[in-house]
Amino acid sequence: MGAQQVRDGFVGLYGAEPEGVWAAPGRVNLIGEHTDYNDGFVMPFALPHGTVAAVSRRTDGLLRLHSADVGGGAAAPVGLRVDELTPESDREWTAYPAGVVWALREAGHAVTGADVHLASTVPAGAGLSSSAALEVVVALALNDLFELGLRGWQLARLCQRAENVYVGAPTGIMDQTASACCAEGHALFLDTRDLAQKQIPFDLAAEGMRLLVVDTRVKHAHSGGEYGKRRAGCEKGAALLGVDALRDVPYAELDAALGRLGDEEEVRRLVRHVVTEDERVERVVSLLESGDTRAIGPVLTEGHLSLRDDFRISCPELDLVVDTANAAGALGARMTGGGFGGSAIVLAEETDVPAITKAIEEAFAAAGFTTPRVFEAVPSAGARRLT
Ligand code: GLA
Repeated sequence: MGAQQVRDGFVGLYGAEPEGVWAAPGRVNLIGEHTDYNDGFVMPFALPHGTVAAVSRRTDGLLRLHSADVGGGAAAPVGLRVDELTPESDREWTAYPAGVVWALREAGHAVTGADVHLASTVPAGAGLSSSAALEVVVALALNDLFELGLRGWQLARLCQRAENVYVGAPTGIMDQTASACCAEGHALFLDTRDLAQKQIPFDLAAEGMRLLVVDTRVKHAHSGGEYGKRRAGCEKGAALLGVDALRDVPYAELDAALGRLGDEEEVRRLVRHVVTEDERVERVVSLLESGDTRAIGPVLTEGHLSLRDDFRISCPELDLVVDTANAAGALGARMTGGGFGGSAIVLAEETDVPAITKAIEEAFAAAGFTTPRVFEAVPSAGARRLT
């Protein structure tokens, strides 16, 4: 949805021009899954899909929220009092933007209310960070309007806090940082311990390749217990190994560490995934930096097998995408995001894309699965002001 449409929607709802219009993207993660809450490495890039918000300040403590995507946009704005926002009190979409206002105010920023109208092109529940886009666009708009002077990574931290505490989903920092900080034509190599960032050029088209996103249409949910269980298992692993986070287990010492975990079989599998996944991120970074882009394909597939067999968060639809794509000649493929549904990514030669897409669609039809949504992902810009 374009800036003008969202601006017009705002005028229709609130009877005045908004002070500005902002956009924040969804993301796919190239590699580095379930490493972010272990202080490890991730490598997402921004999608062209995003959330656009038209926003004006208020000074009377009222926060009015409206989405063009909810109920066909027909509902009236939801009105909340900024001084009455309470964590985990809201199970609707409004918890994300309200949580951002709560987190900003809790951090001491004088956000005195706002009128907000939003529209998103990120498919919800597809593992493409529609919620992070929603949080970050609101955070950026309020940062500009209230002249808070916060940097992208600081906004990401506040958005994560909104999601963890206000919404009640125990997610890491990757999605919000991706939405806030990614750059067009690049993947973001992020150290989630100190949020050190490196933009890695990632222009597949120039090299005759494509990256497909395959949305399996299996809805995933973060606040559901499985994500939290994995996170708790990783924390248990770190405690048993006497480190602050699994990031501190060197890859070279993995076997010895696994040996020290005794009969904790489940924890051992989680640890193995996280430590090998951090190594895979570093390998992908060095392959990309040395211009050996095609060689990242097998690393992506390795990552998928680790998520499937060790971390155990794949599902039949995601496995089918990966197996079918690879059998049809892809360079590599993996699930992306939190797991239990959502999307997979497929790296392929441009010329192989039609055959791979057809093979996936046919395999889904033969298995009786819902037709997946397949689209090409081009590394796009992070959050920004549009008007
Ligand atoms: C979700 C979370 C992220 C990250 C991924 C898995 O997208 O929001 O913080 O943990 O899952 O890599």
